[in-house]
Amino acid sequence: MTEETFRPGAHPGGNRPKLSRWLFVAAVLLGSALLCQGQQVSSGPPQSAAKPAAPAKAPAASGYVGSDACKTCHEDVYKTGFQSTPHYNLIKEGKHGCEDCHGPGQAHVEGGGDPAKIRRFTKLSTAEASRICLDCHQTHGLEQSNFPRSAHARNNVGCLDCHSPHHATQPEFLLTKSQPQLCYGCHAPVKAEFNRPFRHRVEVHLIECSDCHNPHGSFVAHQLRLASTQQQVCTRCHTEKQGPFVFEHAPVKQEGCTSCHVPHGANNPRLLRVNEVNLLCLQCHTPTMNNPIPGTPTFHNQAQKYQACTLCHTQIHGSNFNEFFFK
Ligand code: HEC
Ligand code: HEC
Ligand code: HEC
Ligand code: HEC
Ligand code: HEC
Ligand code: HEC
Ligand code: HEC
Ligand code: HEC
Ligand code: HEC
Ligand code: HEC
Repeated sequence: MTEETFRPGAHPGGNRPKLSRWLFVAAVLLGSALLCQGQQVSSGPPQSAAKPAAPAKAPAASGYVGSDACKTCHEDVYKTGFQSTPHYNLIKEGKHGCEDCHGPGQAHVEGGGDPAKIRRFTKLSTAEASRICLDCHQTHGLEQSNFPRSAHARNNVGCLDCHSPHHATQPEFLLTKSQPQLCYGCHAPVKAEFNRPFRHRVEVHLIECSDCHNPHGSFVAHQLRLASTQQQVCTRCHTEKQGPFVFEHAPVKQEGCTSCHVPHGANNPRLLRVNEVNLLCLQCHTPTMNNPIPGTPTFHNQAQKYQACTLCHTQIHGSNFNEFFFK
């Protein structure tokens, strides 16, 4: 398929049918309309109908016939897979409708529904299919704007792996499955992480994968979403950890939340990376047994391991009152 044929919205002037052919088509369609009068309207599948009712409007010179024409033979798709979906807005906006995605349908209609003469998404490559969707959606807000550079697009995952214009199973966003199942289908290791005892509870939709990730790609690593005011995805919700604090705990700002927490699920409470708070702290703070700073309390001696550091250093994400994060 050429570049030309799968670009929706393009109205190549060179494709104008000759007037004589145009009149012929109009005559055939009118004739079939007359034939249909007085007959029962066939409710069978398109192939069984000898000749379906005529499209309401004569084809425009551009090769577009209008969605009403498609409806005469594809009533099911029209009613259950289009009229009730957000794409029906295309009609309301005065666009073509079916043919915005499937391309001009005149040749297909003339051919009595010849499937070879209409754009079939199943015959397109993943990238070609996504390109058609992006012609409208890449500029429709920022959400899909980075899709071509996303990990998904680069790994041959396309719009139709997650969405279906006609056969969506979800009430929202034309999704083929709901999250997180949609994502688990391809991300099995992530599913295992969310099965751990401590986790963000995606399984009850307390939070969705797409709250932290943009499945359409973003401008940072791991397709993460950014918080509006700063760089960490976590503080979109945990705003109180964001600060700024008078006394910042350096790693919260520098390495970020995931230097101490895992984002998905953990075997440790509070989604901590290690199973004991003290071991976490001591990854960066050398045991203070030989601490040169005078006045450092002896309970910093790690011989007494039962003392959790956060028992005293409670404001571990930063404090406005105390440089040692006591309160
Ligand atoms: C004269 C009746 C008729 C009209 C009008 C018509 N089609 Fe079809 N269409 C058919 C038939 C018959 C088939 C082949 C059988 C099938 O797969 O359903 C078909 C097949 C298709 C297919 C391929 C289906 C597949 O299985 O891959 C698409 C897409 C399609 N039509 C879209 C349209 C669109 C869009 C319009 C309006 C521009 C339209 N059709 C108008 C009769 C029609
Ligand atoms: C937003 C783009 C879009 C619009 C608008 C659209 N289609 Fe489709 N169509 C698709 C895609 C993508 C498929 C492939 C199946 C799928 O993923 O749902 C498809 C598949 C089909 C098929 C194959 C059979 C099937 O059910 O999958 C037919 C027939 C069809 N479309 C007809 C139509 C008709 C008629 C209209 C207008 C009423 C229409 N389409 C509007 C994108 C679109
Ligand atoms: C001709 C432009 C156009 C094309 C091509 C197009 N769309 Fe759309 N899409 C729209 C419009 C318009 C809406 C309605 C949303 C609105 O009005 O805000 C919509 C809505 C959607 C929605 C639902 C958004 C919501 O808020 O529920 C999804 C998902 C979607 N499109 C996916 C696709 C996919 C996948 C394709 C390719 C098969 C595609 N679109 C092709 C214009 C288009
Ligand atoms: C990996 C799965 C996946 C892929 C691939 C994907 N989407 Fe989505 N899309 C989603 C999910 C999940 C949502 C709903 C959650 C959200 O983002 O808020 C969504 C939402 C949408 C929406 C409505 C939300 C909005 O604000 O825009 C549109 C439109 C849309 N997708 C279009 C597309 C188009 C076009 C493509 C291909 C270029 C595509 N999607 C590829 C998973 C996907
Ligand atoms: C609370 C926010 C959050 C949620 C919810 C979330 N993620 Fe993540 N995800 C992240 C962060 C942050 C990273 C980067 C990990 C790192 O830097 O160590 C990541 C990394 C990833 C990665 C790449 C690294 C890896 O572990 O393979 C994938 C794939 C992924 N997430 C998929 C998902 C899926 C699928 C879901 C839903 C089931 C999900 N994520 C839910 C925040 C989240
Ligand atoms: C059709 C399969 C498929 C589906 C469905 C799918 N993904 Fe992916 N995803 C991939 C592939 C392939 C990659 C690239 C290889 C990799 O990083 O695992 C990827 C990459 C990612 C990455 C980037 C990982 C990184 O380290 O940069 C994130 C994040 C992600 N997916 C999240 C999601 C989310 C969230 C969903 C559900 C809304 C989802 N995926 C649905 C196949 C899929
Ligand atoms: C979309 C909102 C949202 C985002 C973004 C988010 N979280 Fe959460 N987080 C929650 C909710 C809601 C809970 C409560 C979960 C529950 O009760 O099961 C939670 C719980 C937690 C907990 C456990 C609290 C406890 O008392 O056990 C930690 C730790 C945590 N989140 C860290 C993070 C980190 C790190 C990130 C970034 C990678 C992040 N969160 C991103 C909503 C979010
Ligand atoms: C230096 C390590 C470290 C960093 C960095 C860190 N945390 Fe924590 N966080 C902890 C520890 C330790 C706990 C457990 C405190 C306790 O048990 O009293 C915790 C607890 C939490 C909790 C649950 C209890 C509460 O206070 O609400 C949330 C939510 C949380 N962190 C979010 C975040 C977010 C968001 C970030 C990034 C802005 C972040 N953390 C960065 C160490 C860290
Ligand atoms: C990823 C490394 C890292 C981890 C993990 C970490 N810290 Fe820190 N912490 C730092 C850095 C860097 C500073 C700033 C040191 C400086 O300014 O001299 C700091 C400063 C502090 C201070 C203030 C010291 C002062 O002199 O003002 C305290 C108290 C502290 N951390 C306690 C903890 C506790 C308790 C934990 C475990 C819950 C912990 N830290 C985990 C890196 C870390
Ligand atoms: C019983 C309360 C308590 C516990 C438990 C505790 N600290 Fe402290 N920490 C203090 C006090 C008190 C100071 C000194 C404040 C001063 O000098 O005024 C201090 C100071 C610090 C300092 C800054 C001075 C220095 O030595 O560099 C760091 C870093 C620190 N603690 C880390 C830790 C770590 C890591 C743990 C766990 C292994 C821990 N603390 C456990 C009370 C405690």
